[in-house]
Amino acid sequence: MAKIIVVTSGKGGVGKTTTTAALGAALARNGQNVAVIDFDVGLRNLDLVMGVERRVVFDLINVIQGDAKLSQALIRDKRCETLSILPASQTRDKDALTPEGVARVMEELKEKFDWILCDSPAGIERGAQLAMYHADHAVIVTNPEVSSVRDSDRIIGMLDSRTAHSEKGEQVEKHLLITRYDPARAARGEMLNIDDVLEILSVPLIGVIPESEDILKASNVGSPVTLSAPESACAHAYLEAARRLEGEKLEVTIPVEKRGLFDFLFKKRGA
Ligand SMILES: Nc1ncnc2c1ncn2[C@@H]1O[C@H](COP(=O)(O)OP(=O)(O)O)[C@@H](O)[C@H]1O
Ligand SMILES: [Mg+2]
Repeated sequence: MAKIIVVTSGKGGVGKTTTTAALGAALARNGQNVAVIDFDVGLRNLDLVMGVERRVVFDLINVIQGDAKLSQALIRDKRCETLSILPASQTRDKDALTPEGVARVMEELKEKFDWILCDSPAGIERGAQLAMYHADHAVIVTNPEVSSVRDSDRIIGMLDSRTAHSEKGEQVEKHLLITRYDPARAARGEMLNIDDVLEILSVPLIGVIPESEDILKASNVGSPVTLSAPESACAHAYLEAARRLEGEKLEVTIPVEKRGLFDFLFKKRGA
């Protein structure tokens, strides 16, 4: 039975799109059939992060409006054949994303894929609500800072009240993913630490992704970090988070400060 995951946060710029691509590719690498869907109508970022922007012909709204079949809009990843993306529309009116249309596309996707990952737009309005409505699981992407945690808290409230599961008295299974975590700044008190975030949100932790240039490099080459740099610390954290989503019980690794003497010497020499 296909599982639908929403990658959500409330706040923008926290790493939802990066996470959708990285987790989608991580699950697909394990041989699962995965579709990632961009719900961010107007912005359309997921295709860029996945490096398929030049291959976009049809999008989610074309499918909803009956202008294209789902099979025409889905783009298969060239590096990983079990990974597909359904892009968002860049220009059209956001109201074109209708609840009935989304429901129809989800039903069709469920027949073809094992996992469907929905990349939510920022905010708590219509687009974010449509992205979460059909979810079985939610990955709540949070940065270790107060405004992000507060927005995640509002999103958690919506997951508990505005989804198909909540309407049936059931729960969306929630997972907390802390991203852009910088252990040195957390140690200096410039960022919240992991325990603070967990205490406020009380959602089980699925991973901690360090702040890293590897993400920027991956996005510049149009590849999820789990495909382009699978040995990096970020990719490791995402790969483990994907295994937890699949039900494996693994302890979460917390990134530690790495800046030792060698790093210092190296930096000095490079300067
Ligand atoms: N772990 C990370 N380390 C460094 N930069 C990151 C990390 N995660 C995301 N970013 C960067 O943050 C910016 C916002 O990420 P994005 O995934 O687009 O966020 P959202 O979809 O929540 O708006 C992007 O420039 C992305 O490259
Ligand atoms: Mg985004």
